Amino acid sequence: MTFDSAARFPAFVFTNDDQGGRREVMEIGLDDIANDGVLIEVEFSSVNYKDGLATTANGKVARLSPLIAGIDMAGRVVDPAGSRFAVGDSVIAHGYDIGTARHGAYARYCRVPADQIVRMPTGLTTREAMVVGTGGFTAALSVIALEKWGVTPDQGPVLVTGATGGVGSMAVSMLAGRGFHVVASSGKKEQDGFLRDLGARDVIDRHMLSEEDPRPLQSMEYAGAVDCVGGTTLANVLKRLKYGAAVAASGLTGGANLPATVMPFILRNIALLGIDSVQTPLDVRTRTWERIATDLKPAGIESIGHDIGLNDLDTVLTKILKGGVTGRYVVRPTA
Ligand SMILES: NC(=O)c1ccc[n+]([C@@H]2O[C@H](COP(=O)([O-])OP(=O)(O)OC[C@H]3O[C@@H](n4cnc5c(N)ncnc54)[C@H](OP(=O)(O)O)[C@@H]3O)[C@@H](O)[C@H]2O)c1
Repeated sequence: MTFDSAARFPAFVFTNDDQGGRREVMEIGLDDIANDGVLIEVEFSSVNYKDGLATTANGKVARLSPLIAGIDMAGRVVDPAGSRFAVGDSVIAHGYDIGTARHGAYARYCRVPADQIVRMPTGLTTREAMVVGTGGFTAALSVIALEKWGVTPDQGPVLVTGATGGVGSMAVSMLAGRGFHVVASSGKKEQDGFLRDLGARDVIDRHMLSEEDPRPLQSMEYAGAVDCVGGTTLANVLKRLKYGAAVAASGLTGGANLPATVMPFILRNIALLGIDSVQTPLDVRTRTWERIATDLKPAGIESIGHDIGLNDLDTVLTKILKGGVTGRYVVRPTA
């Protein structure tokens, strides 16, 4: 596998300056990206809520301008730069500063520090890895956290909020694949079939959880929950957990505040498990991707992702910030 160091290639770039924020596809060369780390030819990236924030003027995520966006990638090593990798190795990289404070994956080539790269596990293609992407990796961390807490399918239903989104849809599929009775909470009535196809046994309207409710406790319904919505929704989830249950919380699409009381914690012995995918240590990443390639692999993964190119990104990034995306968008930077 060779590469042309003088090659020019398209990249999706976000610029934030005194003229405001703007997204554009422009031609760049390898000189335009940092010269540190392993050079990866990006076969696939994906679209995550954080990519939407990183390409928005007041998104408070991008720390570089202009920035090649894209927080995750799967591809092949073209220049190992003296690292443990060899030319042609299939790899995954995501999180850390990628696509926020250093150039990211929405381009043919990206350089990433070697200690941030995971080898592709057996059983996963580069496209499948990005159908899962950061959203699915976060879902996997959430499922593993619940299992570690002791949540098992025989304890009762588990709830997934923001169920049609990236984290949510992957969590529904992974939990269903592990034998859980999954209840999906969604604001998209028309996606009931999509959620049931992923493995949800019940689908509830997200307004049941997003309305403010002064009661400190509700009837105990769920043995566990995966929440990527936060805010009032998370507070309402806490009130509905069974005795000894836990919720894995990763997101804030519904708000960063948590208007909750201590009552579910001290009367029902529940746990709020924080999930971060950005700084996950390499050994945990590696083990998590191995599980994604095996027992957590979403059923029918090949048909789940929507394939897009760099020119489609502006539309999809705008849509994801409005909560309008269903499932996972897979980006082929050379399409
Ligand atoms: N902690 C981490 O490491 C980590 C990693 C990845 C993502 N995240 C966070 O997790 C969240 C989801 O990310 P994502 O990439 O999965 O985004 P996404 O694809 O846009 O999914 C979010 C979903 O949340 C629901 N939603 C949107 N606005 C809502 C509102 N106002 N109230 C209630 N529900 C709402 C929608 O699902 P329905 O229409 O089905 O209700 C939406 O599809 C984001 O906050 C993201 O920053 C965190």
